[in-house]
Amino acid sequence: MKLFSGMQPSGDVHLGNYLGAIKNWVELQKGNELMLCVVDLHAITVPQDPEHLRQRTLDLTKLFVACGIDPKKTTIFRQSDVAAHSELAWILSTQTAMGELSRMTQFKDKSQKGGGDSASVGLFTYPVLQAADVLLYGAEAVPVGEDQKQHLELMRDLAERFNNRFGETFVVPEPKINKSAARVMALDNPAVKMSKSAGTNNYISLLDDEVMVAKKIARAVTDSGSDITADEDRAGLYNLLTIEATLTNSSLEDAAVKHKGKGFAEYKKHLAAVINQSLDPIRSGFEKLTDQEAEAILKAGGEVAKTQADDKMTEIKQKIGLN
Ligand code: AMP
Ligand code: TRP
Repeated sequence: MKLFSGMQPSGDVHLGNYLGAIKNWVELQKGNELMLCVVDLHAITVPQDPEHLRQRTLDLTKLFVACGIDPKKTTIFRQSDVAAHSELAWILSTQTAMGELSRMTQFKDKSQKGGGDSASVGLFTYPVLQAADVLLYGAEAVPVGEDQKQHLELMRDLAERFNNRFGETFVVPEPKINKSAARVMALDNPAVKMSKSAGTNNYISLLDDEVMVAKKIARAVTDSGSDITADEDRAGLYNLLTIEATLTNSSLEDAAVKHKGKGFAEYKKHLAAVINQSLDPIRSGFEKLTDQEAEAILKAGGEVAKTQADDKMTEIKQKIGLN
């Protein structure tokens, strides 16, 4: 099956990104054709420092590889290297209603933070560019975290609409959401999702050192209970058990049973050790890769992507009378 996913090179990559997305990609690349896009054009929908953006693009590429994405199997590329993404986004934007984009919850959240009217037009049309990313390559499924569901629904609508208006052109992609860690919650507030934009005590970065991981887990919000149970109403503890179960590929119930009788402090020490064990190879793999190696991976991936995307653009332009 052909799969496509993307991640923005902005801010730290955290455990939510790893468990909700990257860890699945590592598994999925085995029996499928996977394309992974570092979506720098999406990142600039909010202000970015140019030097940071350039470096973060390379760092995200290194992190993908350190997490187990094999650039020999998977095409990793930089969105801005393939001009067809912007070109198709424009075409699709002419087929998208303002109302559809106004309903996107991510736009509502992000634009409110900047004070409504000052949000960029790019932030508004962000989901159209995301649709272009996937539709260019005929991907059948898109492995993402649950927060991307609404964007995927719009993407499907746009593909179907285009096909109806101009004839069969696009594969209509399915979302592929990992049930066990679709939504990893914030350590300091289990009512909201773990997110890089919400302060460093909220999340564990894949590059946090051992001491930092232990500190953040020790501080994680739990409840006034004293036993370890897998109970959804005990949101903080449930989130910690979800992290453990997903990292160790076990069930939530098994994780809870294993720790029956332990106090929170003891359980948190155990969990910090489990997380550190998973992050060790990622931290060291990241350090081993140079900027030049990351650049070479992106360049090679970009060439593969560009060939496919350019062919598709020729077909699309023909369908709508542009050539
Ligand atoms: P972002 O950090 O918004 O660029 O997201 C990159 C990928 O990680 C997307 O597939 C998201 O759905 C996924 N993701 C982000 N935050 C979380 C979270 N707290 N839990 C699970 N998946 C997440
Ligand atoms: N919007 C996605 C996110 O914030 C990133 C993204 C851009 C993406 N283009 C994509 C994800 C295409 C999947 C497919 O996580």
